[in-house]
Amino acid sequence: MSTRGNFSGRIGFILAAAGSAVGLGNIWRFPYLAGQNGGAAFLLIYLICIFTLCFPVMIGEIAIGRKAQSDAYGSYQKLGGAQWGYLGLFGIVAGIFILSFYNVVAGWAFGYFLEITFGNLLNETDYGAFFGAYINNSWTILTFSLGFMVLTALIVSQGVQKGIEAAAKIMMPALYVILISLIIYSLTLPNAIEGVKFYLVPNLSEINVQTIFFALGQSFFSLSLGMGALVTYGSYVGKNQNIVSSAAIISIADTSVAFLAGLMVFPMVAALNAYDVQGPSLVFVVLTQVFHNMGPIVGRIVGGAFFLLLCFAALTSTISLLEVPAAYMVDQKKFPRKPVVWGLALLIFVLGLPSMLSFGRVEFLSHLTFYKNRDFLSFVSDMCDISLTVGACLMCIFIRKRWKIANMTEELSIGNDNYMGSWLRKYIDFTISWVCPILLGILSLLIIFDKFWGIELIFG
Ligand code: PHE
Repeated sequence: MSTRGNFSGRIGFILAAAGSAVGLGNIWRFPYLAGQNGGAAFLLIYLICIFTLCFPVMIGEIAIGRKAQSDAYGSYQKLGGAQWGYLGLFGIVAGIFILSFYNVVAGWAFGYFLEITFGNLLNETDYGAFFGAYINNSWTILTFSLGFMVLTALIVSQGVQKGIEAAAKIMMPALYVILISLIIYSLTLPNAIEGVKFYLVPNLSEINVQTIFFALGQSFFSLSLGMGALVTYGSYVGKNQNIVSSAAIISIADTSVAFLAGLMVFPMVAALNAYDVQGPSLVFVVLTQVFHNMGPIVGRIVGGAFFLLLCFAALTSTISLLEVPAAYMVDQKKFPRKPVVWGLALLIFVLGLPSMLSFGRVEFLSHLTFYKNRDFLSFVSDMCDISLTVGACLMCIFIRKRWKIANMTEELSIGNDNYMGSWLRKYIDFTISWVCPILLGILSLLIIFDKFWGIELIFG
């Protein structure tokens, strides 16, 4: 036990876990999913998912980790026996695949940061075309993704307190400062209010099955749930800490960054009348155009700061993604941390190559015939989303059937004297026992049907 790391205290844990949660998911993916799925309607469903499903699941995961004091595999195995260990392993594998494509997008952000700050990126004229060409430039992307993976490995190899926690303590506050400054600027742009309306006034008729699927997948992805990241981080949390209130702060921090990212992006979209820019390119195209319009010097500073922010956000997430398999190898296989971290980083980087080449560079990866001609990166990312909701559903079943709610309650009462008699306890018991497993089970199945055969099969 003594060789395992620990967070120095409450703030360290909250920042690291919020750092894991806040990432490309919030700033890059949330705005474009919201844009594609009805704006405020999406936001509404998203918030419901966070409150009813994600928050209880997060509490459950942290409780499992802190009780078992082990990695994702070891925790389930300790509390539930060998078969349940596979649930942990499933999460570890999902995390490896998430990191494989996540690192590619982080590489784009890293490249944009360097080329805006030190290069000529802001002299371009057509940012849509530029982005398309940029992410197809294999050597550039290869170098930046590799650079990003090296940064991640450097931090993770330093261990829990010196690496993960120290990085989060600097990067998380910086992120809020840059984000809020950009929102203030964005709201002063012409037409900004139209963008705000699109984002904040829900049109309920726009809610459909797809909105629900995307919002659900995104909420689990954004809070880093369903794959053992918070089980692993939970295992580094001290017994005197209040898990429930920490989980509330982490959820609020993450949701507020996603919300703020939308508030930053949509006024810009409206100002440029760029409603047709959709999907993964949204943030890269629209924001860069805005930075271009700011003029060469201001644009360079503000644009550089923004992409630096995106890199910070991504880095605190890639750290947690790499920590999950690393903790497994260190705890279970007793390997030394440093070589394990570098070995895993290399493996995951290689696993990311197909995603990297799936935007036109390699034809069959860019148009997967078995996946509605979509690109490989979207395929992996969709599969990972599904594994998160399936993983979270199984975790709830694990708590209810195997570990038992009473044991979870006991763990949650440590560091929280009032938990036992609180209404929150009733809420958590009820959601973990019934709401989460049933809804997540049904929705996960529907999403799987939808992804492979199209939802028309079920809904006509
Ligand atoms: N939550 C991170 C984001 O929003 C991604 C992530 C998913 C990190 C799962 C860890 C585990 O970008």
